[in-house]
Amino acid sequence: MSAQKDWIDIKEGEGYPLQQFVLPSHYKEDLESVMIPYGLIRDRVGKLAHDIAQNSTKPLVACCVLKGAHVFFAHLMEDLKKLRRPNGESIPLSFEFIKVKSYINEQSTGDVKISLSEEDMQGFKGKDLLIVEDIIDTGNTMVALIKKLKNYEPASIRVVSLLLKKTPHSNGYIPDYVGFSIPDLFVVGYALDYNENFRDLDHICVINEHGKAHYAV
Ligand code: HPA
Ligand code: MG
Repeated sequence: MSAQKDWIDIKEGEGYPLQQFVLPSHYKEDLESVMIPYGLIRDRVGKLAHDIAQNSTKPLVACCVLKGAHVFFAHLMEDLKKLRRPNGESIPLSFEFIKVKSYINEQSTGDVKISLSEEDMQGFKGKDLLIVEDIIDTGNTMVALIKKLKNYEPASIRVVSLLLKKTPHSNGYIPDYVGFSIPDLFVVGYALDYNENFRDLDHICVINEHGKAHYAV
């Protein structure tokens, strides 16, 4: 299926001052702005679930890409469980949780390692897979992940990503479903991290230089 290019486009300079929202005080020196408030994210996830339900015909194996997609995944599944296909049927769902390690060289002919057993992946044969990702940046990891999963002969692979970064480093890959396209800035929150920090922040925010230094490894 081709991408539905009706995602919300967030432009450079858009966003909200920190003082307009409630934020964990332990991050108050580390953020530049609120890019996408939690409530807007949550509403947009509802529409992504709606679009997925509209296109669903078979049981779905939803694969959460850990750790960054776990909150998005939980909300998306919460919504999808309540939705119906256009013919009124509910959608049988099963869940997988995967960690993906990419080994990408300069030619972007990357390979990935998926944290599932061979046996688990053999189980994808003939299934409709929905990969649930937090952010597409260069696109290299996702392209390599799809290539790898195709070896297990699923009936279909679709990808939903909450965020799509507008970066000159993009390989041109666009997921089937996108929540928001965002400027080329490092964002955290809603389970997206910077060196494992900021996952405990509800809003998607732009990290500042202080934050990058504070949580550098
Ligand atoms: N934030 C968090 N994780 C990421 C990002 C980002 O902006 N880009 C790629 N991985
Ligand atoms: Mg990710």
